[in-house]
Amino acid sequence: MEKMSRTKIVDLLKREDFGAMVNVKGWVRTRRGSKQVNFIALNDGSTINNVQVVVDLGNFDEEMLKDITTGACLSVNGTLTESVGSGQKAEVQAREIEVLGTCDNTYPLQKKGHSMEFLREIAHLRPRTNTFGAIFRIRHNMAMAIHNFFHDRGFFYFHTPIITGSDCEGAGQMFQVTTKNLYDLKKDESGSITYDDDFFGKQTSLTVSGQLEGELAATALGMIYTFGPTFRAENSNTPRHLAEFWMIEPEVAFNDITDNMDLAEDFIKYCVQWALNNCADDVKFLNDMFDKGLIERLQSVLKDSFVRLPYTDGIKVLEEAVAKGHKFEFPVYWGVDLASEHERYLVEEHFKRPVILTDYPKEIKAFYMKQNEDGKTVRAMDVLFPKIGEIIGGSERESDYSKLVSRIEELDIPMKDMWWYLDTRKFGTCPHSGFGLGFERLLLFVTGMTNIRDVIPFPRTPHNAEF
Ligand code: 4AD
Ligand code: MG
Repeated sequence: MEKMSRTKIVDLLKREDFGAMVNVKGWVRTRRGSKQVNFIALNDGSTINNVQVVVDLGNFDEEMLKDITTGACLSVNGTLTESVGSGQKAEVQAREIEVLGTCDNTYPLQKKGHSMEFLREIAHLRPRTNTFGAIFRIRHNMAMAIHNFFHDRGFFYFHTPIITGSDCEGAGQMFQVTTKNLYDLKKDESGSITYDDDFFGKQTSLTVSGQLEGELAATALGMIYTFGPTFRAENSNTPRHLAEFWMIEPEVAFNDITDNMDLAEDFIKYCVQWALNNCADDVKFLNDMFDKGLIERLQSVLKDSFVRLPYTDGIKVLEEAVAKGHKFEFPVYWGVDLASEHERYLVEEHFKRPVILTDYPKEIKAFYMKQNEDGKTVRAMDVLFPKIGEIIGGSERESDYSKLVSRIEELDIPMKDMWWYLDTRKFGTCPHSGFGLGFERLLLFVTGMTNIRDVIPFPRTPHNAEF
């Protein structure tokens, strides 16, 4: 077969120079037709759209034609022609076909309409479906949107460690990292495991958040963000939790909580607008196939400003709802850590737009948050979104050295692990704020998917680390 340079299908479908010779490569989605002419829908992952390859069977070797089955990989040289009925402007009239890879009838994606559950079991092949192709193209685009947003505003991308000796959120949900022989653990006289002979000479884990190191950077470079994988060994088998997820954490010196809320709102709106502008075909596909309200929901969060409301007032709204007969699965009272049903009630039923809830009880938030005058609440802010609940968690940070130390003591956090963090408050402390956006939660919102396992290529959840 004559060697020609490949045209990606996304580019080919935009061309109008009919008559030109082109080469396309991709995987067969469907093949149909008559005894004389066949139509092959070919997809190369560059776009949700297939190119139609028209094959006059008489011009080709019969044995080769038998290998053109669903899932097979082809290279086609042919003429770009104007299409009459395939839904696209351009198609390819095949001149030469090479089967790069055959695909027999054990290929699990022959028929359409598999359940999402089944597709999770074949996560190694699901990127070849329309749905997952769309989701992973959008995932890429959202990552680019995030870097653009921060780069354009003068933030520096700062890399925080994945292996760490501290528990940022203090929730004890860390995966331990060790090279110790677990079958033969060395212990001291009191029976506790010793770590001096472990790889790092101390107990280490996978990070739950890059924030603490992010704060070191913000109090030096001014405005930074992290974007990396984080790990949580929380045994919550929900459609919104992963054991391995990606988080974006901006941290800004001199920002107070209001600046922090402004940044969070601008940021998330920028990402949603980016999806509408740059992923139109994929978003439309997901809208039409899964969630007829998707595009409307994306547009609607851009329209209104987010409600900003203290936690205490949010609890009042929920208590009023209960008084009027609304049934929640979990109880509502001041001090409760809100469940997703509560968050969604505020957003979807009561305010009908995103809500930023602030000033939470200190007992349900992490040690580093700035303490309010009332002695009861901290300057936290959670952004709550329709269909998702919490999409962002953040706060203004406690910048006062002695207040921070007393909170660390109250919570029994080992001070010896925190000396470097406390140094920021000792040497030129400053007000500063930041937040964390769960990347997969953003993707749930933008794609309309309902299970977080379907917006990351290879989900890690309790009892599942396949692939
Ligand atoms: O609210 P979280 O725990 O906040 C932090 O980790 C802070 N250190 C962030 C900061 O201020 N720099 O987590 C932040 C966000 C949540 O709002 C949620 O979107 C996401 O991370 N998240 C998860 N996403 C998927 N699976 C999980 N298990 C998640 N836990 C949190
Ligand atoms: Mg949170």
